[in-house]
Amino acid sequence: MATVDTPAPLKRPRQMSANPVRRIVDDVSAEWRGRGEFPPGPADFSFARTHKIAHDPLPLLLGAYEEHGPIFSMRLLHIRSIFMLGPEANHFVTVGHPENFHWRESSFGDLIPLLGDGLLTVDDEFHDRARAIMMPAFHREQVAAMTAAMSAEAEVAIAALPVGEVVDIYDWMRNLAMRIAMRALLGLDPDEAGKGAAAATHFESALHYYGIDYGLRLLRGPGSPWRKLVSSREVLDEIVFAEVARARAEPDPERRDILNLLVNVRGEGGEAFTDREIRDQVMTLMFAGHDTSTSTVTFMLHELARHPDVLARLCEEQDRVLAGEPPTIDQLEREMPFLDMVLDEVLRLYPPAWIGPRRAVREFEWGGYRVPRGAYVNYCSWASHRLPEVFPDPEAFIPERFTRERKAALPRGAYVPFGGGQRVCIGKRFGQIEVKLVATMLLQRLRLDALPGRTMTIRQMPTLSPKGGLRMRVHPRG
Ligand code: HEM
Repeated sequence: MATVDTPAPLKRPRQMSANPVRRIVDDVSAEWRGRGEFPPGPADFSFARTHKIAHDPLPLLLGAYEEHGPIFSMRLLHIRSIFMLGPEANHFVTVGHPENFHWRESSFGDLIPLLGDGLLTVDDEFHDRARAIMMPAFHREQVAAMTAAMSAEAEVAIAALPVGEVVDIYDWMRNLAMRIAMRALLGLDPDEAGKGAAAATHFESALHYYGIDYGLRLLRGPGSPWRKLVSSREVLDEIVFAEVARARAEPDPERRDILNLLVNVRGEGGEAFTDREIRDQVMTLMFAGHDTSTSTVTFMLHELARHPDVLARLCEEQDRVLAGEPPTIDQLEREMPFLDMVLDEVLRLYPPAWIGPRRAVREFEWGGYRVPRGAYVNYCSWASHRLPEVFPDPEAFIPERFTRERKAALPRGAYVPFGGGQRVCIGKRFGQIEVKLVATMLLQRLRLDALPGRTMTIRQMPTLSPKGGLRMRVHPRG
């Protein structure tokens, strides 16, 4: 009789200290070990520089690129961070030599207390095995099954927009994206008190921790942002573990949400995820998928309000293809090329996951410089997408840059809003469909105008978003 070898369980990734002092000491000793080997750039401590990277990083990064070229370093707080910009750098980090890097020990390691060991915060075989098990949950037919929940939620949210009034469209989309995530990812009813509604509230409250200044994040003790994060995480754990237990006890093949799929998926050797692994994966998906889609829809509406010609062409396309009906996944993916071009250009100018944080796990050479093991290394889509030699007139919103031919002619690594290689966004199709579906259904009914004199500034932690939201006036479609 044939036997199936059950693979030995993989060792769990190294647990990281949540103690900020311990982390600072580790960082300083790692830099000491790699001393004398950093690419050029300012090594002195500077509050102004640290403030700038936290509040307006683009001019700083683009200025350093002009001065030093595609690889440079700068001290930020106590850390000497390395940045690698441009097509070749992006390709090297994501596709060419990802084995040189870990995500877990990167500057975003403080996500681990909330996310645990989900896809984003693990590396090597542990990452690759989990990713292989999860991939089927993101195949096209699964995403297609989830579009019903997306459409139903979008329909209700759009109907509730008050015509003639001013609304914060970022806030509106955030609420809608959370409701979609609750249903499609966790299988929860967002209106059910104690479950979906509580999960949404506590998830938002936990995320708040990552949007505040770094100094405040170091505080511990009663009433601190850290304590609030921990108590929201406890509530979320309780809800998610109860859902996993329910899904195991009452298997229902009709349920297509990701949590239920993850309870039933098996790896090549027949291995299943543990409860804890499912919890970590769904929390990671919630984190990675919620802010990103919210910001993308908001930035798209902002640009469309400033470019009536683009809006008119988009409406002409949707009227021709949809004739007033809600879009199907086929139409969104295959029949609306101009919508794709608009989305590509929005993600070029405002890639929500704007930085790819990494830590070098071995010494390597790139661009004529040696990078020591233990160095913090970042690739950056936001700055890379604004290089004039790659995207002429980089500040201008020009969807025609992304006709099929022109997109295909871009150098590899030039355009990376979803990252690349083995860590490319697993929710790419989900996110693209969600954004295109919500924007299309909204524009079939309404027009959103910018408020006179209103300028948008961008906040970038943990992902790009319009600072203070984005207020727009709602009109019926003319
Ligand atoms: C417009 C929407 C989105 C954008 C622009 C986006 C962008 C990205 C980027 C740039 C990365 C790679 C980060 C790196 O290299 O360090 C990434 C990874 C990831 N994204 Fe997305 N994302 C979006 C939507 C989503 C959605 C909807 C989900 C889940 C439902 C999701 C789940 C993930 C996960 C789990 C990873 C980690 C993958 C891995 O390391 O294997 N994303 N995303």
